[in-house]
Amino acid sequence: MSEEDLEPLELDDENLDSFETIETVEELGLSEDSGLLEELEEDGAECEALGEAFNPPSWLTTSYEKMPEPIAIVDGSLSLTYLYQNPLFRKFLERYSLGAHRSLIASIWNQVDKSVVEALRQATHDPDSGFSWKGEIHIKTRDTLTALIKLHMYPFIEESGGRGGPRAFWIYLEDITAERQQLQRDYIDALLKASLQKDNDTGKHVTRVNRYSQHLAEALYNDGRWPRVDRDFIEDISYLAAMHDVGKIGISEAILYKPGPLNEQEWKEMREHPIIGALILSSYPIKMAQEIAKSHHEKWNGSGYPYNLSETNIPLSARIVTIADVYDALRMRRSYKPGFDHKVSVSRIADDAGTHFDPDLVGVFVAMAEDFRRIFDSNED
Ligand SMILES: [Fe+2]
Ligand SMILES: [Fe+2]
Repeated sequence: MSEEDLEPLELDDENLDSFETIETVEELGLSEDSGLLEELEEDGAECEALGEAFNPPSWLTTSYEKMPEPIAIVDGSLSLTYLYQNPLFRKFLERYSLGAHRSLIASIWNQVDKSVVEALRQATHDPDSGFSWKGEIHIKTRDTLTALIKLHMYPFIEESGGRGGPRAFWIYLEDITAERQQLQRDYIDALLKASLQKDNDTGKHVTRVNRYSQHLAEALYNDGRWPRVDRDFIEDISYLAAMHDVGKIGISEAILYKPGPLNEQEWKEMREHPIIGALILSSYPIKMAQEIAKSHHEKWNGSGYPYNLSETNIPLSARIVTIADVYDALRMRRSYKPGFDHKVSVSRIADDAGTHFDPDLVGVFVAMAEDFRRIFDSNED
């Protein structure tokens, strides 16, 4: 390969153009509260120099243009300044509002743990790591589901840069969100199937509780008064609400299937199911699963079980599922009670706002209760 073949890369893309106009740290989107910033600022001069001295050869970057994964090349400076981004990489940055930064570190600064930033920089001059790094980064905003990205960084050219490491690196992003989500859902599905073997509630009941909870969470999201309710929250509750009674797996069948009312001792055992459920779900990576299993029988006024939690000490997810679960229980016909109609069920819940249920949630529930009726009608046993 002769020198002439190594044409300098033309940074004529809109996105890359904007790198030239970014001058201050603020524009790089970094917060002021870290000493790393000074380092980054000082480093600016160095990476400008490196950027001029090295450009990835166009014959190579052309081959990256059509690659089906996001790929970038960065220099060896502390800020890992972009020398090249393929179209998918640019799209990725835009999708998560990470664009218009001239360096990888600036792009991910507000999104990832600072230890990730440090580890990446460390690797750029650490021969023991092979000048490479591989790890997960989580990218999250209120209006998008968390993306789980595996970031790979490998040396691109070995020639030593200013900091005693390679002069350039290539970055490859692998989106493992769907894969991870599937794994987590399969885990829940398996547990649910096992618990439904024993529970006297039907599979339709847990499906409906999932849907009610999802719709109520969406209403809270649109309302805006509940900052904790973001896209992830809605997604999680839409399949974890079903786990509320998973702990019944540990309750004896004699109690679960007893036709008449339970005596004192039997009730005592029955009231263990939230704790058993929390135990079963304790290693599940999404904490909400455990919250729901543990606290779906707590009451707003502190008279529930197992821990007499009250008001906002009860996790929001559990307060939502409580309304969903009770609504469905009211509507269902049981050996000891008739199935109440929609109107009666809604007014029973409204009557218990502030005693059994979170009054603010009941307010939202009453306004969107038609959704509950629709979900019950279209998923009848
Ligand atoms: Fe329960
Ligand atoms: Fe239930």
